[in-house]
Amino acid sequence: MRIINALLAVAMMLATLASCGSGKKPETPRILILYYSQTATTRTVAEAFAAKLQADIEAVVPEVPYDGSYQETIQRGREELQESKFPALKPLAADLAAYDVIFLGYPIWFGTYANPIATLIEENDFSGKKIVPFCSFGSGGLESSAKNLADRLPESEILPGYGVRAARIDAAPAEVERFLKAGGFLSGETDPLPEFPASHPVSEEEAAIFDAAVGDYPMINASAATVSSRPVPEGMEYRFTAIDRPRESSAQQAQREITVYVLASEGEVPVFTRVVRP
Ligand SMILES: Cc1cc2nc3c(=O)[nH]c(=O)nc-3n(C[C@H](O)[C@H](O)[C@H](O)COP(=O)(O)O)c2cc1C
Repeated sequence: MRIINALLAVAMMLATLASCGSGKKPETPRILILYYSQTATTRTVAEAFAAKLQADIEAVVPEVPYDGSYQETIQRGREELQESKFPALKPLAADLAAYDVIFLGYPIWFGTYANPIATLIEENDFSGKKIVPFCSFGSGGLESSAKNLADRLPESEILPGYGVRAARIDAAPAEVERFLKAGGFLSGETDPLPEFPASHPVSEEEAAIFDAAVGDYPMINASAATVSSRPVPEGMEYRFTAIDRPRESSAQQAQREITVYVLASEGEVPVFTRVVRP
């Protein structure tokens, strides 16, 4: 009997070692791409994630769709925000409990995630999930929306996210692939980008790059103050701090410092890739 017990103990030890040892494959996380998109820009990003990850994908659908004009959507969205009454959604087909990681996508509305996402996170259980926020926007809002998600979902882990300007949607597939590799969701090497060095006051040449990148964008009325730059695969990336002044038409009351990321590729007009507002 003692011999049998000893043999059993050895067998159990070997089984434990085999499962802990380098021979055991790490479990692949179960990933769902869950997104809201009004005008299909965020949907393009969601589909790129789903294709590259071969993951399940589902759109969040409001009971009463936002199918009006931009101005109508602004008006309805603003009223919902003011009254904290967010749109009812059609039930999800996916069972969130079956997923470990949720890529949560949305357009930026009023500086944060679009209103249907407010309903989604209120009515569903995201606790214990890893959440990868992704968004499309006119000028920016990834950072603020991710922070708001973290505040609203304290039981979830909010991982670094991806955001793209609607005007640069064509750049999304390549950026999504790099983002997934950097995050360990896709295998394959990706050279880490160098850190931005310390900023310095802008030179005339750098101010001209800033002006060329933001010049005709109506929501920015800013002059560059300081800058730092680093090489990236597409060319040079600049991180400007700038003073944004209120326009008569905007709700902004006072001037404020914003951070503007600009990409300058050989032979092309520089473009801004995102604005981070305080
Ligand atoms: C109601 C509303 C509010 C918006 N607010 C912002 C904003 O605060 N900041 C911004 O950069 N873009 C803003 N946008 C632009 C959208 O984020 C952008 O067009 C986005 O790519 C649309 O994504 P979709 O096609 O997936 O709906 C807003 C658009 C709408 C309709």
